[in-house]
Amino acid sequence: MAKKKSDRGESYRPATSLVLAGRSPYEYEGFVNTPLYRGSTVLYETYDDLVHHRNKYAYGRRGSPTLNALSGALADFEKSAGVLLTPSGLSAISTALLAVVKAGDHILVADTVYRPTRVICEGVLKRLGVETTYYDPLIGDGIRSLFKPNTRAVFTEAPGSQTFEMSDIPAIAKAARDNGAISLMDNTWATPLYFRPHEHGIDISIQAGTKYLGGHSDINLGTISVNKEHYPRVLATHGDLGINPGPEDVYLALRGLRTMGIRLERHMESGIRVAKWLQSRPEVLRVLHPALESDPGHAIWKRDFSGACGLFSFILKPEAAKNIGAFFDELALFGMGYSWGGFESLAIPFDCSGYRTATKWNPGGPAVRLHIGLEDPDDLITDLAEGLAKLG
Ligand SMILES: Cc1ncc(COP(=O)(O)O)c(C=O)c1O
Repeated sequence: MAKKKSDRGESYRPATSLVLAGRSPYEYEGFVNTPLYRGSTVLYETYDDLVHHRNKYAYGRRGSPTLNALSGALADFEKSAGVLLTPSGLSAISTALLAVVKAGDHILVADTVYRPTRVICEGVLKRLGVETTYYDPLIGDGIRSLFKPNTRAVFTEAPGSQTFEMSDIPAIAKAARDNGAISLMDNTWATPLYFRPHEHGIDISIQAGTKYLGGHSDINLGTISVNKEHYPRVLATHGDLGINPGPEDVYLALRGLRTMGIRLERHMESGIRVAKWLQSRPEVLRVLHPALESDPGHAIWKRDFSGACGLFSFILKPEAAKNIGAFFDELALFGMGYSWGGFESLAIPFDCSGYRTATKWNPGGPAVRLHIGLEDPDDLITDLAEGLAKLG
């Protein structure tokens, strides 16, 4: 936020930064929020300004006060050289990958990444002559043995999509750096509030702002935070591809930013509470949540992360398979639908066994992913208990 006379100019704690970042009320007649600017054309006042590119903004596709407020706020937060905004989490992933690879390159990708990330690797990247090797997310420093002379990038995500394996990100980022490769991470689960990828050696940190940044299931947005070394390359690709989100979605993300801290605290608290309750249930084989002490990834989570969101999975005992539909249909508070990170709770079944290649997914029973929203956790537990009762 632009300084007031009374501003003490301190470096603030995260909760305070979320309130202040990306706002300059005294530049906008004192209005608290940065206005929503629509527009493609930006007029230059004089011929001289035009030919010498003297406007702060050249063209709507290249930025506006609304877009720059969000990207600047996020860059301060991630402590990076800059943040680029895209119209979805997936376009942030594809833009970042396209910015770093060229024909003939090889990349290493965690076997447990968000599935559409694999689709980019097997589709667009393969067609452009980029080869992908998938690695076990638990590989840690062992990833060194997978580098080839043409390995250009390592793409990771922690915890793993759907199955929540915790990777040793600092070890993987260091191995990438030592081998001259660029490291990228999908950090949507923790958000930069609970894990700061750049502080752990990651070059490019990606977030589907669709989830907790928006927080209300009403936008799609992606963010790419880049360190100084690689920012020019990602900035150029982002500009050349002409990728930017619409101003309404960006405005809603700025609005979401203000409450993200307290929302996440509640998602985390309620998520852990429901996860522990599920652990105590006779129908449940296993709960996959790195914040639980019993989870195999807990030690790494505790070492590197400062919190958890509301997303985790659990495995039902195999007998549940025949009545799994009745379980889902009985749930009143958990909607069935994709995405997550909104104020509402969600539940979906999943099965990764058909597409993972470096690891085997064989959980021993039907798998369910939950997003714990902002409802009262006691009501969510009652709802789940009613669903479980239908398993017979
Ligand atoms: C981990 C992760 N990354 C990226 C995305 C993609 O975000 P979007 O749906 O905005 O493209 C998702 C969406 O579910 C996700 O779960």
